Amino acid sequence: MAIRTILQENEPLLRKKSREVLEIDAKILTLLDDMKETLAGAEGVGLAAPQVGILRRVILVDTGKEVLELINPKIVRQSGTQDSCEGCLSVPGVRGHVARPKKVTVQGYNRDGDLMEYEAQDFVATIFSHEIDHLDGILFTDKVTKYERD
Ligand code: CO
Repeated sequence: MAIRTILQENEPLLRKKSREVLEIDAKILTLLDDMKETLAGAEGVGLAAPQVGILRRVILVDTGKEVLELINPKIVRQSGTQDSCEGCLSVPGVRGHVARPKKVTVQGYNRDGDLMEYEAQDFVATIFSHEIDHLDGILFTDKVTKYERD
């Protein structure tokens, strides 16, 4: 495993749309392992593959109990709204408020190729939404309603 460099917000690659994973091959498994180590090293709660320079639809979400790995994740249901205060490893030192769904149901494949479904609310729902946005080139700063100052 290896820690990969986390791209910062001015990097044009972060604005590109990531491609679906068609085959979970050795490269994808290494990517997942490296992303896990990178996320732990950065003390983050979520990470998307484009943040380490790979334009593939792969995210990690730390639920507080475990770090979920999702390949080709999709929000299949959402309800409610919440005022989420969030930050991003690609935009260090910045926090801001974003309107996010209160609850989401997300489907995605795990590393074994099984289609998984997760329900999340509150902060974990925000992490799913935030990371899936990265796969479409969207940063949370695009959606901030108000910045939080320390
Ligand atoms: Co982020």
